[in-house]
Amino acid sequence: MLESDIADDIVGVMLTEEQLATRLDEMAADITRDYQGKDLLLVGILKGAIMVMADLSRRIRVPLEMDWMAVSSYGSGTKSSGVVRILKDLDTDLAGRNVLIVEDIIDSGLTLNWLQQNLLSRGAKSVEIATMLRKPESAKVDVDVRYVGFDIPPEFVIGYGLDYAEQYRNVPFIATLAPHVYS
Ligand code: IMP
Ligand code: MG
Repeated sequence: MLESDIADDIVGVMLTEEQLATRLDEMAADITRDYQGKDLLLVGILKGAIMVMADLSRRIRVPLEMDWMAVSSYGSGTKSSGVVRILKDLDTDLAGRNVLIVEDIIDSGLTLNWLQQNLLSRGAKSVEIATMLRKPESAKVDVDVRYVGFDIPPEFVIGYGLDYAEQYRNVPFIATLAPHVYS
């Protein structure tokens, strides 16, 4: 998918493929350093984190395992409520494991705050978070995030795994959606 393929649907490109790749290199170098000699379990949050998981994990230079969870936050409308339902749980026993949650974006922080507590309660030794994007101005709860790709303004973005109505996940860059698409 190229920018010209969705030019009518977006206001503009926020982060290019090159910018994402450069930042992923840096994040993976930090993770490689921090988990040297430790076990590591990456937990990707479906579906948005598929691209980050694939690209970040390939750059990490320590042995690791991968598992996946799917969760839904319900509440009124499209906003996260902090009440989280597990749609697909992990296959892995977390007792004594070093878990690194891999996310696409942190908006209110409510989902990840719940998830971090949930995974810790299963006996994990550590539960850290890596996210490609974060919207600091949307934060409703303080989440301790170890690895952040980019802090972005509180605008609705698509691409690189992020969807609007299940579309645009295969866009290889991050873009701001044009208002006519969702109005
Ligand atoms: P929260 O941090 O609990 O508010 O929820 C974060 C989740 O909301 C993410 O995992 C995304 O699935 C979704 N989300 C938040 N902001 C955006 C956006 O700008 N574009 C697409 N999905 C988003
Ligand atoms: Mg998500």
